[in-house]
Amino acid sequence: VSRVIPVETFDLVIFGGTGDLARRKILPGLYRRYVAGQIPEGSRIIGAARAELDDAGFRAFVAEAIEEFVPAKARDAEAVARFLEHLHYVSVDAKGTTGWKELGKLIRKDVVQAFYFSVAPSLFGDLAERLHGNKIATPDSRIVVEKPFGRDLESARALNATLAEHFAESQIYRIDHYLGKETVQNLMAVRFANILFEPLWNARHVDHVQITVAETVGVGGRGAYYDRSGAMRDMVQNHMMQLLCLIAMEAPYQFDPDAVRDEKLKVIRALEPVTPEDIVRGQYRASKDTASYPADAENPNSTTESFIALKVEVANWRWKGTPFYLRTGKRLRARASEIAIVFKEVPHSIFGDEEGWRENVLSIRLQPNEGMTLSVMIKEPGPGGMRLTEVPLDMSFAEALGEDGADIPDAYERLIMDVIRGNQTLFMRGDEVEAAWAWTDPIIAGWEAKGDKPKGYDAFSSGPEDALMLLHRDARRWREIA
Ligand code: BG6
Repeated sequence: VSRVIPVETFDLVIFGGTGDLARRKILPGLYRRYVAGQIPEGSRIIGAARAELDDAGFRAFVAEAIEEFVPAKARDAEAVARFLEHLHYVSVDAKGTTGWKELGKLIRKDVVQAFYFSVAPSLFGDLAERLHGNKIATPDSRIVVEKPFGRDLESARALNATLAEHFAESQIYRIDHYLGKETVQNLMAVRFANILFEPLWNARHVDHVQITVAETVGVGGRGAYYDRSGAMRDMVQNHMMQLLCLIAMEAPYQFDPDAVRDEKLKVIRALEPVTPEDIVRGQYRASKDTASYPADAENPNSTTESFIALKVEVANWRWKGTPFYLRTGKRLRARASEIAIVFKEVPHSIFGDEEGWRENVLSIRLQPNEGMTLSVMIKEPGPGGMRLTEVPLDMSFAEALGEDGADIPDAYERLIMDVIRGNQTLFMRGDEVEAAWAWTDPIIAGWEAKGDKPKGYDAFSSGPEDALMLLHRDARRWREIA
C-alpha cells in the first residue's frame, strides 16, 4: 500500500490544457493522485488554452482523457465526477489580452500556485510576462516547463534568461520525466542506502556501463518536431544524461535538491568530448507493416537519426577507464530500458571453469517490469562436481509492491506533486541543462560538418550493425534488447 504524502491546497493552471501532454499525462495523472487522496478538496485545476471552451466543455474533455488513459480498474465514475468538480477553464491568448483578467480572478493568493507551461517554448516569455503584468504570479508561484528545453546551448541560455527575468531559480521546475520513474529514484536508494555497492562502484571494479532506452514506436505523428531533433537531442541530452548522472555521481551530502544537483552537474562537466569513431547514428527502414523513418517524418531526404549509440567517458578519479555505452532508438526490437553495471572479472579463477563463468551484472530495469537483478555465480546444484552457473538475485518491484505494478505511480503524477510540495530534487537546474547542451553541441556540430548520413537499420531490429561494432572492437557485447 503506497503511503500518500499530503500536499497543501493548491491552484494549478495548465497552459496548453487541451494539448496532447495534458490529455495523455498531466490530467489523468492528477486524477490518479486525487483518487489516492493526495489532492486536497479545496484545490483547483485550471485549464488555460486558446480554444473557446467553458468549464463544462473542459470537464467533458478531461473525462474523455481519463477514460482513454487511465486503466479501467483505476477508474470509478463517482470519483471521476468528484474530481471534475475541481476543474475550471479559461480561454487565454498567450500573446494578447484575452482571458488574463478572468484567470486572475480564479487564482487565489493564499494557496500554493503553480503554472504548468505545457506549450511551445517560444511562448514561455509571453506567459511569464503576462502572469506578472496582470499581477497573477507572486514570489512564491511555481512554474513548470517541459522539454525541449532549447535545441542547443545558445537557445537554452536564452530560455533560461527569459525565465530568469520573471522567476527565481527556486520557482522554476524543469521536468525530465525520467527522473520521476520509480526505478530511477530507486537507483539512488540502492546506491546510497546500502553498503554493498558503493565500494565496488568505480573504475577499479566496474568494467563498463550500458544504458539502453529502446522503443518500438516510430515517429509517425510527431515527425515535424522529431526531424529537427533526432535521438541525440530528444533522448540523450536529457533523459539518458540524467540516468548517467545518477549512476556516476558522488554521494550528495544529503538528499536535498541542490546537493543532488550539484553532484549531477559535476558529472556532466567531467564528460569527455565524444569523437566521431565513438558514435553510431541510425535511421529505421520500412518493414512489411511500417513506414520508413523518412516517410514517417515526411522528409524524404532526412538525415536525422532515429537511433544513436555512443561511447562516453567520465573523466574523473572514480570513472577514468570505465566506458559508459549509451544507445537509444525508435522501432527497435522491444520496448525495453535498462541500465547495466557490468563488473570486472575476478582477479584469478580457482575453478578452471572458464566456460561457465560470467561477470556479475547489476541490471536496473526501467521499463517494462521495473526492477533490479544482480547476477551472481554459484555452484551448479547437484553432484556434477564444481561447475559454475549464473543465477539472478531478483528484485522485481512489481512483486515487492504487490499487484502487477499497477500501483506504481506514473512519473508525471509524482513530479506534479513534488511541484506542489515545493521539492526540486527531481527537476533539472538551469546550469545542468546548459552544461548538458555544452557537451551535446560539439557532437552534433561534428557530424553536421561531415555531412554524416545515418546508417539504415531494419525496423524491429537491434539497430544498425555498426552499433554492434562499437562494443565488439572493445571486446564487449551489448546486452540483448528484450
Ligand atoms: C520523450 C521523447 O521525452 O520521451 C519521446 O520526446 C520518447 O521521443 C519518450 O518516446 C519516452 O518516454 P517513456 O516514458 O515512454 O520512456
